Amino acid sequence: MVQLPLPVSSDDFLDRPRILSPKRPPVETAGLADIFPYYAGFAFDWACKQLHAQSNGDPEKVVLDPWNGSGTTTLAAQSDGHPSFGIDRNPVANLVAQLRCQVRVTGNVLLPPRRSRTSGKKAAQDALSNWFSLASVARIRDWTRSFQGESLEARIVGTVSIFRVVRSVTERFEGSNPTWVKRAKSDDELLDISPDDLDSLILAEQEDLWGRLMSAPRGAGRTSIVTASSDRLPIADDSVDLILTSPPYLTRIDYGVAYCRELAVLGIDVLSNRDLRADLMGTTLIRGDAASQFKPGKIACDLMHRVSSHSSKASGGYYLKQTRQYLRDLSAGFDEMTRVVKPGGTLCMVVQDSYYKDEPVPLADICIDEAEVRGWGLVLNEQFPVKRTLTTLNKSAREYKKAQVSESVITFSLRSA
Ligand SMILES: C[S@@+](CC[C@H](N)C(=O)[O-])C[C@H]1O[C@@H](n2cnc3c(N)ncnc32)[C@H](O)[C@@H]1O
Repeated sequence: MVQLPLPVSSDDFLDRPRILSPKRPPVETAGLADIFPYYAGFAFDWACKQLHAQSNGDPEKVVLDPWNGSGTTTLAAQSDGHPSFGIDRNPVANLVAQLRCQVRVTGNVLLPPRRSRTSGKKAAQDALSNWFSLASVARIRDWTRSFQGESLEARIVGTVSIFRVVRSVTERFEGSNPTWVKRAKSDDELLDISPDDLDSLILAEQEDLWGRLMSAPRGAGRTSIVTASSDRLPIADDSVDLILTSPPYLTRIDYGVAYCRELAVLGIDVLSNRDLRADLMGTTLIRGDAASQFKPGKIACDLMHRVSSHSSKASGGYYLKQTRQYLRDLSAGFDEMTRVVKPGGTLCMVVQDSYYKDEPVPLADICIDEAEVRGWGLVLNEQFPVKRTLTTLNKSAREYKKAQVSESVITFSLRSA
């Protein structure tokens, strides 16, 4: 761990017990973290300790995670008694976060619905038909339709049960890159699972989820989970005390494709409808507004220059646009975080550096630069080496020489105006 010089007074932070690596353990059950596989930026126990230390144990402090994913921050805030907001643009992430944070009452396992006759035409237009036979699509839709009119808790548990079934039976469509999911290339590859088998799988998942939820401890903090974008936070100015977050990294993880099967359960076809996928930060799609103006800091400018002058194909074209779009979204996220936090408030981010080909992408330094120009003082910069990254899984990316990357925990305090 490397500790850098501290530009603002940090005695308070240094007096506190050392907080170790944010890394999630290979198997993490604390905070229901294993309830659904998600690219979590940090471990639940780490988030609990971090929030408790940063808030001085004051439960009145309001917590925000503008890239809340499966809700690790909001659940940790709830356990420590804080009111919290969790924002994410991916509705799949938000349902999992709601399951972890908001399903409190004992609910019923929903029983198999009556079989309806979903028309073949309708089933064929359904995004689930990328992986399932029309008969299987029709049975899954009987289930999702039957959730209407049930309690919010039962709907959340029912929907996440279907996420879990769909994910486990379609495992064969996952490639070596876990964020890229294939579609069936022909009718022969479609999964044809009988209605009875689907019913048994969905019932078993509901029973398992309710069992886990009933034995999960609950804190007193109020939690709001909202589907929105980090560049337009639905939160009032100066209303948050503490942000704990991990934004998408510049590693070309396409969260839309990674969760395309669960989005299909929600009726969203990201593979043919690009809107949601294009909105997600780090997307591999280039949006129409890619050229819109923003004022990047020095380190972000240097990265764009290094990407555009790289000798490999499309560096000055597509890859420059993708990098620029990511940096613009990050910059808009910093504007919003600065707007909603009270003067004197805290921002703690977990970020991972990476590589573009053989060029380092110093994301932690870019974030420090972006934060400082907006009036945030760096309080602590802790670095932890990362052994396995997505670029080590990608064959073509492996051709380029790289040094070990690190994950950084950077903590700032917002100076009074
Ligand atoms: C590194 S993950 C955060 C993981 C989280 N800490 C957890 O424990 O699950 C980054 C999250 O940012 C979300 N995201 C991507 N683009 C976004 C945007 N424009 N606005 C809000 N959230 C976005 C992704 O859906 C993803 O859930």
